[in-house]
Amino acid sequence: MATPSPDALPTLYGGVTSRRVTTRDLQLAKDRGEKWAMLTSYDMLTAQLFDEVGIPVLLVGDSAGNNVLGYENTVPVTMDDMLPMVRAVARATKRPLVVADMPFGSYQESPAQAVHNAVRFMQAGAHAVKLESGHQVLPQVRLLVESGIPVMGHLGLTPQSVNTLGGYRVQGRGEAGDRLIEDALALQEAGAFSLVLEVGPADLATRVTEELAIPTIGIGAGAECDAQVLVWTDMAGLTPGPGPKFLKKYADLRTVLGDAARAYAAEVRGGQYPGPEHGYV
Ligand code: KIV
Repeated sequence: MATPSPDALPTLYGGVTSRRVTTRDLQLAKDRGEKWAMLTSYDMLTAQLFDEVGIPVLLVGDSAGNNVLGYENTVPVTMDDMLPMVRAVARATKRPLVVADMPFGSYQESPAQAVHNAVRFMQAGAHAVKLESGHQVLPQVRLLVESGIPVMGHLGLTPQSVNTLGGYRVQGRGEAGDRLIEDALALQEAGAFSLVLEVGPADLATRVTEELAIPTIGIGAGAECDAQVLVWTDMAGLTPGPGPKFLKKYADLRTVLGDAARAYAAEVRGGQYPGPEHGYV
């Protein structure tokens, strides 16, 4: 029998078609044990690039608050902040599933408020929304899914609750782990298509991943999740400082970009740039 071309392999993002990844593709990936990577993206250039290199899911995260907008955390982020970023990422891509992160205050009030704001994201080009916390938002998740809006859940360290959590701390140790599992199952039951697990014990994330039929996406939650997510500026080393323990920096963009800016400024000062080759006659 002829070896199938790599394009025909049943991988999540194998280039079989140039169509969008769907929530069903993510479920099928879990069912066959294929892991995948999600990255945040907030703009056209990174979205295009991450599409080109085959990242199957892009999250327009409210981490834009402290990575793009200059806030201390995600709490001040609004729908009006997020919408232009969602539009840019959706317009710039052909293949990744684009997930819009519902900001603090955009869904907590009522299921109707959640649907109203999620519809704005879907009409801006998103293919799904993400919202934080468990039993508190089950009515929201149910109505969103009934309204045709795929929902990604988010448990563990939920940054929008930083003020009640008392800081960015590991979540789900001890009995809190059992409550997290109950919330995870309830979100699945309510119709969520996947679940982010942020900063918790690896064995808890393993249990959740085994007990849930839907894919889990870990960030600081160990290696056994079905997928992983990182904030792109952290992953590429643009964010200053060492970052949290779970972070692996795959590049040192901060040094690369700083060196480029320094070299450019020095050449302008020294009269080397622009050179004759950069001019017009
Ligand atoms: O906003 C974000 O970037 C997130 C991820 C860290 C999961 O919620």
